[in-house]
Amino acid sequence: MFNRYRRLRVNSRLRSLVQENHLRVDDFIYPLFIKFGEGVRVEIESMPDVYQLSIDEAIKECGTLKELGIYSIILFGIPETKDSVGSDALCDSGIIARAIREIKKVHPDMFVVTDLCFCEYTDHGHCGILDHTSTVDNDATLEISAQQVLVHAKAGADMIAPSGMMDGIIETLRTTLDKNGYYDLPIMSYSTKFASGYYGPFRDVAESTPSFGDRRSYQMNPANGREALLESLEDDRQGADILMVKPVLAYLDVVRDIKENTKKPLAVYNVSGEYSMLKFAGRSGLIDYERTLIETMISFKRAGADIIISYHAKEVAQLIKEGKI
Ligand code: PBG
Ligand code: ZN
Repeated sequence: MFNRYRRLRVNSRLRSLVQENHLRVDDFIYPLFIKFGEGVRVEIESMPDVYQLSIDEAIKECGTLKELGIYSIILFGIPETKDSVGSDALCDSGIIARAIREIKKVHPDMFVVTDLCFCEYTDHGHCGILDHTSTVDNDATLEISAQQVLVHAKAGADMIAPSGMMDGIIETLRTTLDKNGYYDLPIMSYSTKFASGYYGPFRDVAESTPSFGDRRSYQMNPANGREALLESLEDDRQGADILMVKPVLAYLDVVRDIKENTKKPLAVYNVSGEYSMLKFAGRSGLIDYERTLIETMISFKRAGADIIISYHAKEVAQLIKEGKI
C-alpha cells in the first residue's frame, strides 16, 4: 500500500505537529459600533450577537474583550445628526472623537483603530462630499479627510483605517499626520475594497445605506483581479503601513496575489454578510457552526492574511480559550 499522505493524519497529535497555519487571538481586530446616547445596547436583527453600543456600554464591552484576550478594536461611529459634509466626523466633540478619548481613558491598553470614512456621517450616505452631479468628489473628500484624520489623531487613536476608496487618500493622510507631528501613527488602508453585496447587514448596523445610487464609482468591480493588485500596490507606494482586502471570502485569490507581491502586513475584513450567512446557517442547523467557523477563519491565514477583522473574534477567542482551536 502506498500510504504516502495518510500516515501523517493517523492521530491528532501528529496532525497538530504538521499543521501549517494557526489562529491566535492576537490576529484579530473586533469591530465596535458606537451610537450616541447612554445605556444603549441594541442588537441588530441582521447581525445576531452584534450590537450598537453607546460609549459607556462600549467601555464595558472592552472589559469583556480583554477577558477574552482581545486587545484590538476598530471603531465605527453613528452620530446623532447627519448632514451633507459629515460635520460630526470633523469636530472634536463628535461621536467618534469622544469614543476614542473615553475608551482610551478607561482602557489605555486597548489598541484603538478608527475607520475613517464619511458614509455614517453624511445624510446621503455616500463615502465623501458630493459634486454638482451627485457623484463623490475625490479631491474635496481628500480635503475633509485631512481634517477628519487630525480629529482621530488628537483624540488618541492608535491606528487610522481609511475605508472610502478615494484616490490619493494615503498620501494625503500620511502628509497631514507627519506635518502635525504624528509620525508614529500608522495607517491601515482598506486598499482593495470591492463594491459588494456582502456589506448589506453592516449598513443596517452602521445606518449608512446610500440614500440614492450605489458605491460603484469608488469601490472596485468584483470582476477585476489585476486592478485589485494595482490598488494595493498603489497604497503601498503612498505609504500605507498595512494593506487590506475586503470582503475576503469571495476574494481569497486576491489575498494570495497581494501577499505575493508586497512585503507589507496584510489584513482581511471578514464582512457583515459573511458573518451573518454563517451565523444564520448555524442557527438553522444547516451546518456545524463551530467547525465551519474555524475552517473559514483558517482559510484566511492559509491565503496569506496576517490580520483578521471579524465579528467572530469573540467566538474565536472563546474557542481558543477552551482549547478547541
Ligand atoms: C464604510 C465601511 C463599510 C464597511 C466598513 N466600512 C461599508 C460600505 O462600504 O458600505 C463594511 C463592513 C461590513 O460589511 O462588515 N466605508
Ligand atoms: Zn464609507
